Amino acid sequence: MFSIFKKKPAPQIQPTYHVTDFSFLGGDMHSHLVPGIDDGSQTLEDSVKFVDQLYKLGIKNFITTPHIHGEMYDNDTNKVQAYFLPLKESLAISHPDIHIQASAEYFLDTYFLKEVLPKGLMPFGNNNVLVETSMAGWNRQFNEIMFAVQANSYKPILAHPERYLYETEMQVFENLKNKGVMMQLNLLSILGYYGKSIKINAEKMLALKLYDYCGTDLHHDRHLGHINAMPEQNQEILWQLSEYGFKNKDLYNNIL
Ligand SMILES: [Fe+2]
Repeated sequence: MFSIFKKKPAPQIQPTYHVTDFSFLGGDMHSHLVPGIDDGSQTLEDSVKFVDQLYKLGIKNFITTPHIHGEMYDNDTNKVQAYFLPLKESLAISHPDIHIQASAEYFLDTYFLKEVLPKGLMPFGNNNVLVETSMAGWNRQFNEIMFAVQANSYKPILAHPERYLYETEMQVFENLKNKGVMMQLNLLSILGYYGKSIKINAEKMLALKLYDYCGTDLHHDRHLGHINAMPEQNQEILWQLSEYGFKNKDLYNNIL
């Protein structure tokens, strides 16, 4: 039966133009393209293939960010740069208009605080660094470690906050943002690739304007397949992202 009290659905904003690729981002700032150094690309051949396919999707600027994670990936600046060099040299020949720089995705733990940070990080953009925290729960020293990063003049970008499902209070992320911690959305989160709860978190964070940057966090072919299909299959999401105002472009000024 018709009821005058029935709640009207929120009006859906419809795309007003067709988004064909990811050139609206200006570049990617989170990926695992350095071959053989973490759980990302394992071979130079795959890395070149991934870059080439992202290039065809409109991404020409890359900051690639292998894990530096004491317990799991015993990487450091010298190792990252040494493993990155063949990729950089290969792309200079095959894609001379691509700009690519290696940095890292730093796992914030005691090892980072004691062993990694004191030796200096690999910043990009305006002294930015990409950091991540545990998927299992907040590190008890999280605030102390984050403060140490900032006290060393780095500007931290927290990778994929939507994936830290143990934190349900958006206010916690708003507080971090107010303390100068920037945030990065994973493209695949908003697609639901990591599950419905993470997708919902990402939608909330987009609505609250918590994000500053958007990255692919590309590790392998499956990730690429989903990203590649977005212009065909997820036009509404892609349009919303293109309207959001991510600041990725600001990060590439130093490498252009
Ligand atoms: Fe990552």
